[in-house]
Amino acid sequence: MDKEENFQSKRYWDKKWSSIFDGYQKDLRHGHYVAALADGRGRRFLELGAGSFRDTACLRGLGFEVLGIDFSENSCSLARSAFPHLTDSIICGDAFKTELLEFSVDVSFSKGFLGYFGDAEISSILLEQRRVTSKLIMATVHNSHNKKFLDYFKSRAEADSLYSLRFFAVDEIEHAFRSVGLKPQVFTVGKAYVSGEDVLIAEGAPLSLIRDAIVSQGPVALEISEYLMVVADVEAV
Ligand SMILES: C[S@@+](CC[C@H](N)C(=O)[O-])C[C@H]1O[C@@H](n2cnc3c(N)ncnc32)[C@H](O)[C@@H]1O
Repeated sequence: MDKEENFQSKRYWDKKWSSIFDGYQKDLRHGHYVAALADGRGRRFLELGAGSFRDTACLRGLGFEVLGIDFSENSCSLARSAFPHLTDSIICGDAFKTELLEFSVDVSFSKGFLGYFGDAEISSILLEQRRVTSKLIMATVHNSHNKKFLDYFKSRAEADSLYSLRFFAVDEIEHAFRSVGLKPQVFTVGKAYVSGEDVLIAEGAPLSLIRDAIVSQGPVALEISEYLMVVADVEAV
């Protein structure tokens, strides 16, 4: 990858989305995790670094109002073709500078987005979320306690730089939230489609059951879950 094409450049993502957009649409678990953990506290959602816009589309399908923002013109154009009914929800813009846009939402979230940034940039993103969000701030990151998942990413990273993103331990992501004055609650999600919340989603279970499965997990879930999903109540700041 040359300097012009690092993860923080539009050029990198414009190229990348041409080859990965369709594959991403096959995994719709995360939109359900977001809806389940929002637990009826929001009607209006914002997704940062929406990429494939699959979560934006999933949440709309579940009946919520939703906006997704991504700076890759290619990802936005692919999403407008794939989801013509969502054209008004697809915003091509910088997630660090949403002040250019006039909106406020109940819940904002990202998935696999913070892992491409350093600590200072993560703080800026979380502060931006806090500025536009009235109820819940969420961020889902890759879980470094799951060694199998981490090793899988390391092995793929040799051939594909998409996989060389940062994984987080619970204390690291908690620290990122606390450093901007947010009180994080960390949940473990993503069971490789084979157990827990993933099976409930595949079965079409109600959001309340999916939420119960996520919030009642024991400590062993930390080592087998793909992601840490952090939720902070804006009012608890
Ligand atoms: C790993 S992808 C996220 C994938 C997404 N969660 C999904 O499910 O499709 C990271 C995304 O962040 C976007 N991105 C990176 N920097 C950005 C920025 N400053 N503003 C908006 N989007 C950005 C990239 O274009 C890319 O689509």
